[in-house]
Amino acid sequence: MHDHDSLLAAYRRVRARTVALSAPLSAEDQVVQPSADASPTKWHLAHTTWFFEELVLGELRFDPAFRMLFNSYYEALGQRIDRARRGLVTRPDLARVHAYRSDVDARIERALTTGSLEPPARSRLELGLHHEQQHQELILTDIKQVLGEQPLQPAYRELSVSDTPRATPALAYRTFAGGIVDIGAASQGFAFDNERPRHRSIVEPFALANRPIVNAEVLGFIAEGGYREPRLWLADGWDTVRHDGWRAPMYWRDDGTLYTLGGVRAIDPSEPACHLSYYEADALARWLGGRLPTEVEWEVAVAEQPTNGHFADDDRFHPAPSTLAAGDGRLQVFGDVWEWTASAYAPYPGFRPLPGALGEYNGKFMSGQQVLRGGSCLTPRGHVRASYRNFFPPAARWQMTGARIAKDVA
Ligand SMILES: [Fe+2]
Repeated sequence: MHDHDSLLAAYRRVRARTVALSAPLSAEDQVVQPSADASPTKWHLAHTTWFFEELVLGELRFDPAFRMLFNSYYEALGQRIDRARRGLVTRPDLARVHAYRSDVDARIERALTTGSLEPPARSRLELGLHHEQQHQELILTDIKQVLGEQPLQPAYRELSVSDTPRATPALAYRTFAGGIVDIGAASQGFAFDNERPRHRSIVEPFALANRPIVNAEVLGFIAEGGYREPRLWLADGWDTVRHDGWRAPMYWRDDGTLYTLGGVRAIDPSEPACHLSYYEADALARWLGGRLPTEVEWEVAVAEQPTNGHFADDDRFHPAPSTLAAGDGRLQVFGDVWEWTASAYAPYPGFRPLPGALGEYNGKFMSGQQVLRGGSCLTPRGHVRASYRNFFPPAARWQMTGARIAKDVA
């Protein structure tokens, strides 16, 4: 989202981008649900629209049944289908979902141009745009699982990735003094409720790597038997490794290749490692002689960094090697891969959920998940910021997730 956009221009841009992301897909592609975690593209197209109709317009005029079909998890807004059964909804068909989008778009645009939206509804509209951007990333991670787990592993579409091979970027550490620090979003400007309030926190001196863990390091971990060594793993992680038979990150193949949204290609040792679970991130950091940073350390370290990594707008849809020289002082932090932190997803001191049904947006998920920071190559540019808190359960690895090493400083 960009501040200079009018709300109407931002609405049109975000809504068009979602449709453009679905354009390379067939109708069949858009109905399949590959796991309970991932949702069909068609569901994302409809659910993001339902959000505006239910929470901004306030009346479900197009089809009242859509309230039950496309409500995700809002208890305050009535019945809904099980998350794991979204792929069973073949009716409405894709054409009717696009008709739904057009109908709601016309009503929202009329409300914006006639000035009939009150300030609270305009705030919910702005939230709806950030919400839709979150689903844009999910459209990509979820279709990657649809396509990447079928026998022929077809590409989502041809991508303009043309990296020249480069040496693995050197691993260097920057040290930070610690002390009493402020983290969280300031009270002005858009942020999700879980980023607030800005508050004080105490940090001991620490060091943070200049780049995320790269494939070369994962290859070393595998070669030294990391996936077979229980002493490197958290107990829950080791149980998951054995139960799910993990031997490499998700989408890695035995022949030295991996699946990307552009199709199968060779594993590039210099790329940030992606599709790591929290458990793998934790084990890799331990094997490399460090640990994962806390979210406070991460936010303090990156507060002055430019948000200039690779985002979905760069049309790579895969993380890129760092181009920073070892002595550069900057950190490759935004975009490319979300970074698991050692911090459990919990409310900040003084956290207040949004009023009404939207109080369910973030707050009720604050148990059993880890915080991730920084955005990825599938995140829309401008969507993330230093205070942004993403969260997933520790075994999740179908998201574009990686890790960075931190160390204590004596
Ligand atoms: Fe949603």
